[in-house]
Amino acid sequence: MSSGERSPLVLGIETSCDETSVGIVRGGELLANVISSSMELHRRFGGVVPEVAARAHLEAMPQVISEAIDKAGVTLDDLDAVAVTSGPGLAGALMVGVGAAKGLAQSLALPLYAVNHLVGHVSVELLRSEGRDLELPTMALLVSGGHTAILMVRDIVEDVTLVGDTIDDAAGEAFDKVARLLGLPYPGGPEIDRVAREGNPADYAFPRGLTHPKDRVQHRFNFSFSGLKTAVARWWEKNGDPENPQLVADVAASFQEAVADVLVSKAIDACQEHGVPRLVLGGGVAANSRVRSLAEERCAAAGIELRIPPLSLCTDNGAMIAALGAELIRRGRPGSDMSVSAEPTLNASIPQAGFPSHEEDPAQSEVQQRDVEDSAEQVEQVDDAFTGLVPKVAPASRRERKGQSTWLGTIALSPAFGIGVVPAILAVVFGHVSLGREEKRRGSVVIAVIAGYLGIAVSTVVGVILATPVIRSLLVAAGFLLN
Ligand code: KG4
Ligand code: ZN
Repeated sequence: MSSGERSPLVLGIETSCDETSVGIVRGGELLANVISSSMELHRRFGGVVPEVAARAHLEAMPQVISEAIDKAGVTLDDLDAVAVTSGPGLAGALMVGVGAAKGLAQSLALPLYAVNHLVGHVSVELLRSEGRDLELPTMALLVSGGHTAILMVRDIVEDVTLVGDTIDDAAGEAFDKVARLLGLPYPGGPEIDRVAREGNPADYAFPRGLTHPKDRVQHRFNFSFSGLKTAVARWWEKNGDPENPQLVADVAASFQEAVADVLVSKAIDACQEHGVPRLVLGGGVAANSRVRSLAEERCAAAGIELRIPPLSLCTDNGAMIAALGAELIRRGRPGSDMSVSAEPTLNASIPQAGFPSHEEDPAQSEVQQRDVEDSAEQVEQVDDAFTGLVPKVAPASRRERKGQSTWLGTIALSPAFGIGVVPAILAVVFGHVSLGREEKRRGSVVIAVIAGYLGIAVSTVVGVILATPVIRSLLVAAGFLLN
């Protein structure tokens, strides 16, 4: 730090999705927050393309850094630390930010703070100069195109817990995909918000994912939007008419109502269950007018204090990353190890990556990996079947597991059991012939016939079981089945 008295001057870099952003803070004072979005480049694909986003970060980064430095009225030499989003987010996009931050930190001989993006969203409340003041404990409902999570924050550095998460699509992703179905441009959230103003939210009772009483055990605070998206897609396939603006408005309003209802009711349920009297909203979907009004209405009724940051601090931004970096410094945390890397699935309970005492628990990361794979598969199936918007790429571990070994084993074993059926049939045929002719040795012939029948039954059942994956793969290859 340049001076013992002064709060640290921290530059924060955010590149987890499609916003390249650099923020500069001095402690809790916001000096600059420059955001450059690559959204335009993704428009024709109807969603964020990770490789395009990564390349756009690379191109925008030098300009965004120098603009932020100019706006803050400081020089690079004045900086005390560099903070950067390490995860969660898109791997390639994160790598660009982490690479840039490491370069800056190394060349200026500054500590590097690799921080958690989700905790960063809550850290917006640390920016006192913005009239904000983090009061704890608080719940945070973070809803964007990349995440839909409820965090419980008792201490922003030491005690953050992931209370709920989406098991398939993020809410913003569902907005974008449904908008595309309705013939609205990308990004779909603001479009649905706009057209829904003219629609009737009570016209169609679309499903509220994971709100059935049976879901309360395992998924009380988790979200699922793929069923809702599918329901809208099925309804639109049968009854839709993009040329009918009133119909588009009614479907958009009914869909938006279903999303807002689930988001707000689960967040308030989490506050009440954990005795937390505050709720912070964050992420692009927090800009949604219905999400805001419903949250205001229901929080007021439940006696919960609601905090919604201004839009520039709600969507992904570098200021929140810098604010979290400044807080880590204030709490005496050392910088992250320089070997720290992008962590696309970083757990919400880890505010700082590359910090030795927060090594990941192997059991926890295994559960996380399984969750990521399961939800990836559900999203793939629904997208393929109804919208065809997401390229079908399974996680690497799943692709390996699905690999050739089962194929080769099955192909090798099937004929073995197939051949087993031949002596069984011969035993049955010759047995019956002998029974007609011979009176002697009748007992042993009957036993041979029974053994023959059993042999046929066992070979057939085992043969069919083993052949099923081969037949299924052939059907998938021929396009009759979804993988
Ligand atoms: O936080 P954000 O800017 O970027 C990331 O996804 O990280 O959020 C973008 C998402 C998009 O899916 C967009 O459609 C959605 O937020 N969004 C909205 C609204 N404005 C943006 N969704 C619903 N209503 C809105 N007014
Ligand atoms: Zn975000």
